[in-house]
Amino acid sequence: MPAKEARVTVQIRKAVFPAAGLGSRFLPATKAQPKEMLPLVDKPIIQYGVEEALASGADQIIVVAGKYQHVIEAHFTPNKPLEDFLESQGKIDLLAEVRAVPCPATFTSVLEATPLGLGHAVLAAREAVGDEPFIVILSDDVIDAQPPATRQLINVYNDLQSPVLAVERLPADQLSQYGVIDAEQIRDRVYKIRDLIEKPKSDEAPSDLAIIGRYVLTPNIFPIIDTTQPDTKGEIQLTDALRELLRTQPIYAYEINGVRHDTGNKPGFLRATTYFAQRQSDLDGAF
Ligand code: G1P
Repeated sequence: MPAKEARVTVQIRKAVFPAAGLGSRFLPATKAQPKEMLPLVDKPIIQYGVEEALASGADQIIVVAGKYQHVIEAHFTPNKPLEDFLESQGKIDLLAEVRAVPCPATFTSVLEATPLGLGHAVLAAREAVGDEPFIVILSDDVIDAQPPATRQLINVYNDLQSPVLAVERLPADQLSQYGVIDAEQIRDRVYKIRDLIEKPKSDEAPSDLAIIGRYVLTPNIFPIIDTTQPDTKGEIQLTDALRELLRTQPIYAYEINGVRHDTGNKPGFLRATTYFAQRQSDLDGAF
């Protein structure tokens, strides 16, 4: 019998956060700050994603930011004068909160001056990612899960050694807002993708499995994105590049086990705020 092929478990270290969108749904709150910095209770949305990446084993955070890049950078950089002030006032609890904001030594931000679609944003991280598998986290999708959603995907990647996308079953009337896969289930929660389509018309969705904002990708996606044509809105879609990649290698999907909130629209943002407020001990009873 041939020897079983050895699986290579590569430590996935890099997490890319596209964050250059205009946040127009939240104007005027996003007039002079990225929407990723809006707070869910008391933490900026992007911090939930960064904490998830770090808890999943990544240690290098790459933010693809726009004009207000400095606001995100400042949040993930230690603020010594603030810490000194809180300490001098004996505000130990607040000091602990401030120090709990992860400030990874390997935080990089890359400028995407004009947001031209998710594919374009991921391509902007090409140099920072280099030649290794990586995670993409769309921080709009805040996922409460244990193990963290990204860890769940990495486990599947380590097993199958091919790109893996997070999916969730959604009602038919929501599918046109997402990428949707056509796939064959190969084991519990794991699917082998046959095709994927970005924001299908409601009667053209190939299934009810929508792509949500977590991906484990390999660097061979970059040259494909580079030649992917913009869609009718002028945006370069990651889904279109993945569709091309699918011609040469398998891509899998994993139905995440957890609670996802789409904070990219007002009702979803408000529901997420309520959800996390109800779980926060210092608000016990008051909310
Ligand atoms: C992006 C992707 C889409 C995916 C969605 C998940 O769309 O293009 O395939 O389903 O994120 O949140 P966007 O929400 O940026 O329009």
